[in-house]
Amino acid sequence: MKHLFQKGNDPSRPTLLLLHGTGGTEQDLIPLAQIIDPDANVLSVRGNVLENGMPRFFKRLAEGIFDEEDLVFRTKELYEFLDQAAEKYGFDRGQIIAIGYSNGANIAASLLFHYQHALKGAILHHPMVPIRGIELPDLSGIPVFIGAGTNDPFCSSEESLELESLFEQANAKVHLHWENKGHQLTGTEVEAARSWYLSK
Ligand code: MLT
Repeated sequence: MKHLFQKGNDPSRPTLLLLHGTGGTEQDLIPLAQIIDPDANVLSVRGNVLENGMPRFFKRLAEGIFDEEDLVFRTKELYEFLDQAAEKYGFDRGQIIAIGYSNGANIAASLLFHYQHALKGAILHHPMVPIRGIELPDLSGIPVFIGAGTNDPFCSSEESLELESLFEQANAKVHLHWENKGHQLTGTEVEAARSWYLSK
């Protein structure tokens, strides 16, 4: 997968896995990593799917309706890429914390829905429920931050609460942060994610 890797200054810090929104690139979330943990390694990946020229992490059939077969395939592809990247760059595979926005948050959620040891934690900015009707692995002890908007046109408040509850049923430690906004990523949400991250 197309990506960039930046080695951090402090080997005890985790590796931040950055996953952009639809139409983004691996450059987009670099400023977020600087805010959340400037000393961490950064692995920023570009989605392998193109929708009218816009990179994404999996196909969709329509807005908000996912191609589940592709979602499962692309989730496995990303999972395997993480194994390979850890080996290639020499970071600890067990210390990856995802930061995803929108489509990138959805594939990060899908990693957690499908694999027990995919991530050590996740900051999900405006995720949706990636897939329904599957049994989640035991996510005991995995911290998950969800940033949601009360007026998000892509994700209703009910869906954000459903996602929180699915993670909680799998024993993840969820923090749901609300913004009285839409789908956009605001400075206050990033600040909330940072405080949450520092309290881990
Ligand atoms: C998705 O397709 O993953 C969501 O609708 C969010 C987005 O448009 O990126």
